[in-house]
Amino acid sequence: MLTLSEVKSISGYVGNFNVKVVKKARLVDEKECTACGDCTRECPVVKPDEFDMGLSSRKAIYLPFPQAVPSAYVINREECLGSNPIICGKCIKLCKKGCIDFDMKDEEIEFKVGTIVVATGVDVYDPSEMDEYGYTRYENVITSMEFERLINAGGPTKGDIIRLTDRKVPQSIAFIQCVGSRSVDKGGTYCSNICCMNTVKDTLMLKEHYPEMDVKVFYVDIRAFGKGFEDLFKRSKGEGVRYIRGLPGQIKEDPHTRNLVLSVENTATNKLLEHEVEMVVLSLGVKPCEDIKETQEMLALQRTSDGFYLEAHPKLQPVDSATKGIFFAGCTESPKDIKDSVTQASASAARAMRLMNSGEITVEAITAEVIKDKCEFCGICVRVCPYNAITMDKDNKIPAQVTQAACSGCGTCAAECPTNAISMRHFTDSQIEGQIDSLLEEKPAEKVLVFACNWCSYAGADFAGVSRLQYPSNARLIRTMCSGRVDKKFIWRAFEKGAPVVLVSGCHFGDCHYIDANHWTKKRVDKVWKKMKKLGIRPERLQLEWISAAEGIRFSNVMKRMEELRADVTPEEIEDTRKILQESN
Ligand code: FES
Repeated sequence: MLTLSEVKSISGYVGNFNVKVVKKARLVDEKECTACGDCTRECPVVKPDEFDMGLSSRKAIYLPFPQAVPSAYVINREECLGSNPIICGKCIKLCKKGCIDFDMKDEEIEFKVGTIVVATGVDVYDPSEMDEYGYTRYENVITSMEFERLINAGGPTKGDIIRLTDRKVPQSIAFIQCVGSRSVDKGGTYCSNICCMNTVKDTLMLKEHYPEMDVKVFYVDIRAFGKGFEDLFKRSKGEGVRYIRGLPGQIKEDPHTRNLVLSVENTATNKLLEHEVEMVVLSLGVKPCEDIKETQEMLALQRTSDGFYLEAHPKLQPVDSATKGIFFAGCTESPKDIKDSVTQASASAARAMRLMNSGEITVEAITAEVIKDKCEFCGICVRVCPYNAITMDKDNKIPAQVTQAACSGCGTCAAECPTNAISMRHFTDSQIEGQIDSLLEEKPAEKVLVFACNWCSYAGADFAGVSRLQYPSNARLIRTMCSGRVDKKFIWRAFEKGAPVVLVSGCHFGDCHYIDANHWTKKRVDKVWKKMKKLGIRPERLQLEWISAAEGIRFSNVMKRMEELRADVTPEEIEDTRKILQESN
């Protein structure tokens, strides 16, 4: 276990990841330190304790939190006055075991691993921007994280809930739910999953400590869907906690009593009311951790629109990432409670172990292969590969090389290669061109040619079929693994063969099974549209649609629209297009 360390870079692929880690200098020998605490006695630097949410203080040499692993002190280099005895260096004298070493340097460690579990957690929402709740103005408005430290027996007040203004136990407390969750303009639009039950738990603890306390919870709806959660919720109500449906519009402080007045519309009774309480707790939502983007780039991972990591498949591979050998555990994938995090972590460990134990992996047969003599070292394939599976040494004229274990077979490299130097096994150019030719061999003017990606649009078509939805029978589908495989030349060929309209369809952004390969589809189609305009071909004849596997109705509607577009294209227009394309070749 490497603590106080930062992963600097990760390269390679499943079974062969190279990881570079910087282990920061602790300035205290972690093996020798017994965490006696003598060193802190005379440290003159006093700083807010982050673990106690700033509700207590610590020194520049400190134990991050009581259960820290290893149980060893650490010196914050930025805060410490240094080892010079004229200025400070007091801790060196106090440490009898001589553990303090100001000459300790950051250490760079490199190692190889076969699989990786990403468990980088979440951050909590910062309520400062919600001015209406006055978190930055009123001391008696605290967050659920601060409440957690106050009610903890090992916290700064030894478990006593006190108002920060007068250090008295409040007689009334209000909890406000969904702070930074389910909001369009502040925080995330998603439900943070954990806050409802955390508040229910907090109310029960309050009632246990202070049975007479008046406890109110302002909520949108209480989501108590886990095992035993409904019982806890009922118990909380049974203890006298009042649950009021509606979130306060604003909070004002009475300057004399320092009490807080909440203006709330009770959406159950439609009444506008004011509630006066002595303390307010903002139940914070969670958000993806700040440095998630760096980890994402390092590991070539995908994220949802909420910013959390996207799993390879929500039902069948819920802990796998789209990149082979990388798994998720905990809130980094979506907000979840302890039980779900532990379940997911166990599943991730088992998935990783299964790979490691077998010692070898079976890769998909559909991977890219480089035709070396055709490679002209442009490096486009290296740039577009979502998995960093292609390498090339431009300077030494070593052609592109595909790491088969890392390639997932989206085909973006093959579609982008300007010299046709990449071939996709089982989805070769000639195979796809053969399909275009045969589908448009007879009466092409009556057909609608569709390129559909395997995972979403093709599945959407399937879903439309099994749902018995009607759509025009002249649609002719060509399946590719990803819309990223649809080369510009396939589209031109279809028009040359007399296609009145062509549809390129794939997964919605963020849903592509090959990380972000469909972004390249969009860029490519944009280029084709531009060229169509330049050549005098109506760009509407090429359509791009994102259709998910669950959108059977959408597929059927898109196909009906495609048929309307097709009916608009005259035989003369088709013939003109053919001529234009033949001349431009
Ligand atoms: Fe559907 Fe990439 S897999 S667009």
